Amino acid sequence: MKKEIAFIFDLDGVIVDTAKYHFLAWKNVADTLGFEFTEKHNELLKGVSRVKSLEILLDIGKVTLSEEKKQQLLIEKNKEYLGYVYKMTSEEILPGVTQILNFLDTNNIKFALGSASKNAPLILEKVGLINRFTALVDGNDVSKAKPDPEVFLIGAKKLNMNPENCVVVEDAIAGVQAANAAKMLSIGIGDAKVLGEADYVFKDMVEITSGFLKNLIN
Ligand code: BG6
Ligand code: MG
Repeated sequence: MKKEIAFIFDLDGVIVDTAKYHFLAWKNVADTLGFEFTEKHNELLKGVSRVKSLEILLDIGKVTLSEEKKQQLLIEKNKEYLGYVYKMTSEEILPGVTQILNFLDTNNIKFALGSASKNAPLILEKVGLINRFTALVDGNDVSKAKPDPEVFLIGAKKLNMNPENCVVVEDAIAGVQAANAAKMLSIGIGDAKVLGEADYVFKDMVEITSGFLKNLIN
């Protein structure tokens, strides 16, 4: 018999690869402040809110700034990031995503977005996916960042589902922890060594086969 389940997808690193754009914009901030910011450092910002990302960046550069200066940098960083986002098209949807969404639609399984990004609706619009989700939860809707389960619990509520019947797809460890804290099934996308706390880990979205999805719903 079919189980009633729903999916909640993270956005950055799951649906689209925006980490490269965040990197370019944060690197510019670090350049302005006079220290090096590497792609390895950028890994620390995955799944982390914009404000927290700046704190981590300033820690890396061992820089202390006034509140006013921090606000200014957050605005400048986002402005540059949005410059990249405005150029995004459906070609930037990560391989495997469309097949998964099609499978879920065919099987009448609802899905929502659960993202830390305040730019999530714009990104979904640019890549042509804004109308495919039953519900959207983004950085504007939450007061507590991942690993707090708030974003996914709001998602479950909007989907009218019990958290235990929700499956979360996430690329960041903070997101996997948020899903686990929400008592949802967690699927990690990326390195199994990093995402070991997830119930399942796949290298990328292509690795999630329809056979695996069928097993989940049956
Ligand atoms: C997350 C990204 O999805 O959103 C983080 O993984 C990012 O890297 C965070 O900092 C907030 O994004 P935004 O678009 O609100 O600056
Ligand atoms: Mg992510």
